[in-house]
Parts: sequence; C-alpha cells; structure tokens
Amino acid sequence: MIFTSFIDLGYHYVLKPILFKFDPEFVHDLFTKTGEILESQDWLIGNIFRYQNPKLSKTVLGLKFDNPIGLAAGFDYDGHLSQIMHSVGFGFNTVGTVTALPYDGNPPPRLGRLPKSNSLLVNKGFKSSGSVNIVKRLDQKKLSNCTVGISVGCSNLPQINTIDKAISDYLFTFNIFKNKSYVKYFELNISCPNTVIPTPFTAPQNFTKLVVAINKLKLKQPIFVKMPNEISYLNSDNLVQIAIDHKIIGFIFSNLVKDRQNPAFNKNEMAKFINQKGNFSGRPTFDSSNKLIYHTRKKFGKKITIIGTGGIFMAMMLKQS
Ligand SMILES: Cc1cc2nc3c(=O)[nH]c(=O)nc-3n(C[C@H](O)[C@H](O)[C@H](O)COP(=O)(O)O)c2cc1C
Repeated sequence: MIFTSFIDLGYHYVLKPILFKFDPEFVHDLFTKTGEILESQDWLIGNIFRYQNPKLSKTVLGLKFDNPIGLAAGFDYDGHLSQIMHSVGFGFNTVGTVTALPYDGNPPPRLGRLPKSNSLLVNKGFKSSGSVNIVKRLDQKKLSNCTVGISVGCSNLPQINTIDKAISDYLFTFNIFKNKSYVKYFELNISCPNTVIPTPFTAPQNFTKLVVAINKLKLKQPIFVKMPNEISYLNSDNLVQIAIDHKIIGFIFSNLVKDRQNPAFNKNEMAKFINQKGNFSGRPTFDSSNKLIYHTRKKFGKKITIIGTGGIFMAMMLKQS
C-alpha cells in the first residue's frame, strides 16, 4: 500500500508533468509499447498493483468480474494490453473498437488534453489495425484469468457507405471473434460520432436491421450496446426496447460528448481547440451519462444490465457542491 502510494505521488508530481509536455498520442503509444513488454512480468506487476477482495467480485450475465471497474473501449484499441490490464487491477477490459478493415484513423492531431476540464478531445475515427490482425495478436496472449470483451464497430472507410455494407462489416468482426474462448463479452458500438457515416445505427430502423443480423450469429457471449451520450430519452428508450426484443439486454451508458457548450468545460481551455474536430471524454460526460442510467433503470427495471461509463476518477464518489 505504501509502495503504491509512493508510485501514485511519483506519477502525479514527477511523471505526469513531464509526459504532459509531449503529444498525447505519442505518450499513449509509448505506454502501449511499454505495457506490452511488461506482460512478460505480469506476475510481478499483479503483485504490485492488483487489489483483490472477494467483496468486490460480481457475476453479471453469467460472467465473473473480479471487481466492478473496467477499462472502456478506446484505450487498448488494437489489443496490445489485453493481458496486462488485468494485472494492473481492472476487473474487465474492452479491446477496440475493432473494425473489420484496417484504418489509420482521422488525420492528426487525434487527441487533445483539457486538464482543467478533466477531459480529452478524441478524433480517432475508429483507428484500428483490423480484426484479422487483432485476433492474431490476442491468440498469442495468456487471457484465461482476464475478462476481455471486444468492442465491434464498422470500418470507417469510404467504401462502407450503405447500411447493408456496414452490417456485413460488423458481422465479419463478430464472426472472427465469436468462437474464441477468451472473448467473454461483446460491445456493439453504435455511437462513435466521428466517422464517415456518423452514428447511422441510432436510427431505429437501421438498428433493428443490425440486431436482427447479429441475432442470427447465435453468439454465446453476452452483448452490451454502447449507447451514445447526447441522445434523447425517447430515442434511447426505442433502441433499448429494440435490443430487448432481440434478446440483447446489456447496455453501456455512454460514449463521448460533442456539445462544446457543456457546462463542465473550462471556456478558456476550450477556446484553444476551436479549429480542432473531435468529441470529449471525462468529466463532461458524467452528468448526462448518469441521467441516462437513472432514466433507463427506472423505465426498464432489473430486466436489463447497465455498465456506467464516463468521468470516473476515483472509487468513492465525492459529494458535489
Ligand atoms: C482516446 C479515446 C478513444 C476512444 N475510443 C472509443 C472507441 O473506439 N469506442 C468506444 O466505444 N468508445 C471510445 N471512447 C469512449 C470511451 O470508451 C468512454 O465511453 C468515454 O471516454 C467516457 O469515459 P471516460 O470518461 O472514462 O473516458 C474513447 C475515449 C477516448 C478517451
């Protein structure tokens, strides 16, 4: 405990100020490479960082979670860190969003820091090395102790320009992963806002077509629909009901926010990003995510499972003034 507090202080007062002088994507890539190298030492890493307590463990939709804090999609998008995330303490971790075809991402800069707003600007546009490459990578890893999920999205490429092509593209990735024993759950990402055809699957008729097609795959793993953040209750309820009607009862609320007038932003900080495209994570997602969770739980009760995402900075919630 003293050792981890020491590491924590070292990170906040020494490492973080240094890292913040560099481009955020460079730092992310550096940590990804380092993390993958450290996988060979994951027993040691686990002993330093991982906190085990049976009181934290939970079984949900038939899956055992060692603790309720998971890593959301977007950090380990190509699956390099799927093994070490368990050792550093996550109860589950999502690889992806994975797309069928490789894509280098939107033109840089793809990330921007807003430390005063506790947020990150994201303009990745589904950067992915593609499901065929990612499955090869994951096949090499020791994942038997890990609760790994795959977030599936559709390739962000000009040729995927119709709903039918997009659905085939989603199905390709589900098929690649569906018989892998290390894949414990899937996320169905319908909510990535910065792609060629932005959020087409939030339209109920398209979403219905998608879930009908996925249903035919007879997946063994549970599916969680990754929901948009800035969505009306009516639209969200429609999508939840369609999913339930097609035997999908897991939901993740929610994805990034787009609205730059969100009161959680520091206005001066936001002004620096006036010419930069993208959507935002962290604190600005927190209130709207929680409102959607509260609303959805009240409306649909315990027949659905909800994972909350967005703006979690510590285990205990602080009282807000
Ligand atoms: C750099 C970055 C990339 C992301 N990429 C994805 C993605 O590919 N798929 C997805 O479903 N969500 C993605 N997200 C959204 C996160 O999964 C999460 O829903 C959002 O950031 C709110 O959680 P947070 O406040 O804990 O970051 C991304 C977020 C960040 C910061």
